[in-house]
This record gives sequence, structure tokens and C-alpha cells, in this order.
Amino acid sequence: MTLTEDQLTNRERPDFSRHANQAATAPAYFSVWDLHAYYGESYIVQGVSFNVHEGEILALLGRNGAGKTSTLRAIARLDNPEARRGEIWLDHKALHNMKSYEAAAAGIQLVPEDRRIISGLTVEENIQLAQIAPPIGWSVDRIYELFPRLGERRKQEGVTLSGGEQQMLSIARALARNIKVLLLDEPYEGLAPVIVDEIEKTLNIIKEQGITTVIVEQNAIRALMLADRAVILDTGTVVFDGTAQEVLDNEALRAEYLAI
Ligand SMILES: Nc1ncnc2c1ncn2[C@@H]1O[C@H](COP(=O)(O)OP(=O)(O)OP(=O)(O)O)[C@@H](O)[C@H]1O
Ligand SMILES: [Mg+2]
Repeated sequence: MTLTEDQLTNRERPDFSRHANQAATAPAYFSVWDLHAYYGESYIVQGVSFNVHEGEILALLGRNGAGKTSTLRAIARLDNPEARRGEIWLDHKALHNMKSYEAAAAGIQLVPEDRRIISGLTVEENIQLAQIAPPIGWSVDRIYELFPRLGERRKQEGVTLSGGEQQMLSIARALARNIKVLLLDEPYEGLAPVIVDEIEKTLNIIKEQGITTVIVEQNAIRALMLADRAVILDTGTVVFDGTAQEVLDNEALRAEYLAI
């Protein structure tokens, strides 16, 4: 079924966000509740709520400019956008009044889109730098078991790695911290499908270790195939909250909010 633009605007809009208010009643392992965030006077994250169970993978989707990166940054307690209202709870701990380094110590780790590999440092030094202060997570050896390619290239300068390897290194650095929630912003961007396969496999292994993941991806189908649940944003608000399978099965929903 494909709907025309007219049909889409004229039909009654279904309420895809019916699950979005559950945070108020059922505190989950990881909860974002009524989050509002601003870049200066620009009001971007407009009351985002969702719950994630421990060890679950949530796909946070939406068109370009929907507010996905801004939501991740607000959750990680970065200064911009500034979260002015809302609550963030992780494992019974309130994160919403924390500084970003405190949220990181509490177990939130954002892997930004640009990967931030530090130049002048080898692969191994990039990982070791993440372990300079507690709480320390996976050992270097355990990380190389998950990413053998990084082990093979441990003496190579990090910035000379391929795009896929750099993505692995930035995930590795997050694991080198003792994390509970991994926030991934566009981890598949610019990568060949075979490399995406490889990263997907490691994300499943990370999940088996009990780590909770929120993945933002333009490659929505791949993210939905990996994820248990999905939240869709549109202009900074939640328009759908449900299972990943529901989104895969709902062509009208995908066409309207994901353009796929
Ligand atoms: N530093 C900033 N200052 C002002 N506005 C910003 C800033 N960064 C992002 N925005 C605006 O906030 C809105 C949401 O941007 P955001 O980057 O969160 O979207 P996104 O869903 O991640 O998009 P994409 O899929 O393109 O990465 C956009 O309208 C964007 O122009
Ligand atoms: Mg973005």
C-alpha cells in the first residue's frame, strides 16, 4: 500500500504515540520523561518520553532534522542543546541534574556521528585514554576479542583506520568505560553493507552482555532489523512508540515519518 501526499494529509492521523506516556507510571530501567531542550532560543526537543528495558536495543528514528541527535545529546547531558525540563532515569538514578561527565560515570556513553578518534594516538592508546579514570569497563584484551580487526591494528594511528574500523574503535572506547547505556548516532553512516553486517554482529554481542543500546540511524531498515523497539520522532516530538516489527510491517507509518 502506498498513500499519495493528499491521502496522507487528508486522512485522520492515527495516534502512533499511544505508548509514549508510560514513563509516568512504569519506571523502566532507562527512562526519558518529558524532555525539552533548546539551542539558545530554538526549541528543538519538545517533550520527548520513552522507556527502554535493560539489555534492549531501541531504534530512535525520524527524518533529517527530526531531533534525534539533539535528543541523544540532551540525554548525555551535553551543554547544547540545553535540557530545560524533563527527567532522565537510569537504573533508579536521576541523571537530569547531572553534568555530562557525571552522566558518563553513571553509565551513559554517547558515540557521536563524527566518531572523534584522537589523532596522533594509536588504536590502543585511543582505547587506553578512555580508561584513564574510573569507572573502567572492558579490558583491552576483551575489546580485541570483540573487534579482532582492532587488535591486528593496535599500533596503527587511529585516524588512519578505515571508516568501519573507526566506528569499531569509537564503540570500543565506549566499552572501555563501564557503561550501562550506549547511545549510537548514525553508526552505519558511509559504511559498506558488509561492514554494517560486522558492526551489527558486535552490537548483538554487546546486547548479550546486558548493555542497553539506543541507535539512531538513517538506515532505518537495518536499525529496525537489529532493534527490539522503535521510537519515531517528528519535529522534536514522539509520533510512534512500539516494537521494531510494527514499524517494519507498517508501510504507511514508514512512508509518513521515515520516507522509506
Ligand atoms: N547547534 C545548533 N543550533 C541551532 N539549531 C540546531 C543546532 N543543531 C541542530 N539544530 C537544529 O535542531 C533541529 C534538530 O536537529 P538534529 O541534529 O537533532 O536532527 P536529526 O534528527 O539528528 O537530523 P539528521 O538525521 O539530519 O542527523 C534541526 O532543525 C537543526 O537545524
Ligand atoms: Mg543527527
